[in-house]
Amino acid sequence: MDNRPIGIFDSGVGGLTVFKEIRELLPAENLIYFGDTARVPYGGKSVQVIQKFASEITHFLEMQNVKMIVVACNTVSAIALHKLKSETSLPIIGVIDPGVRAAIKAAGAGTVGVIGTRATINSGAYQERLNRLRSSIKVVARACPLLVPVVEENLMNSEIARLTLEMYLGDFKKIDIGALILACTHYPLLKNLIKNFLGEKVTLVDSACETAREVKEMLVARRISTEEVKSGKEKFFVTDSPESFAAIAADFLGRPLSGECITHSWQNDF
Ligand code: DGL
Repeated sequence: MDNRPIGIFDSGVGGLTVFKEIRELLPAENLIYFGDTARVPYGGKSVQVIQKFASEITHFLEMQNVKMIVVACNTVSAIALHKLKSETSLPIIGVIDPGVRAAIKAAGAGTVGVIGTRATINSGAYQERLNRLRSSIKVVARACPLLVPVVEENLMNSEIARLTLEMYLGDFKKIDIGALILACTHYPLLKNLIKNFLGEKVTLVDSACETAREVKEMLVARRISTEEVKSGKEKFFVTDSPESFAAIAADFLGRPLSGECITHSWQNDF
């Protein structure tokens, strides 16, 4: 039994989709969320920069005495997870493997589609993992960089969102897609729109739900679940304005933030 918090991090606010699922599945766990809001977005940045930022956040969470780390960002999971594993002795999981396993199950004989940021898609991490688990699998991957600002501007139900989907995924309608991996933390908020656009036949794989399940499994396997029964505490760290974070966080969580939100400044910044 271990009452220390679980550390969850993302480049910004998007990882709250993962935080929300973890909270629902593990109501008694204490959770710390870190959003690097001063340096978001990571999706168009270089491998070296993403790895450096991810190492800094992992170190920060270690200093907060967390018991495990969840990389709630597809871009960081794709680019930096292997490096982070060599830098920390804590259990650490990303969002890719849970999503890949669920997609293979759901796709049947169909093609698996993957959509994410430029960095995630260009890394080939999803394509490589899917092929490793099933060598015969057909994969079509597409970077959809405009979808992140669409969500952050709360335009999920707008004509702009629909046209953006048409531009990125129009040709997916002509392929026999069995499952589509939403390989970006923001995309679960576009689930309904994507479902309407591609039709009921395509199973949407939300890595946030799959990751939460894997977090639970890891806590049980390592016997590090909390022994508390009351609701777990929540604490948030951001690197830019806590007020802006709290405002947009409410859209992601479907409720206001329930714990304190503290600003963390990187040394040498500004
Ligand atoms: N959190 C990022 C991801 O899941 C999206 C936002 C960004 O580009 O930093 O890939």
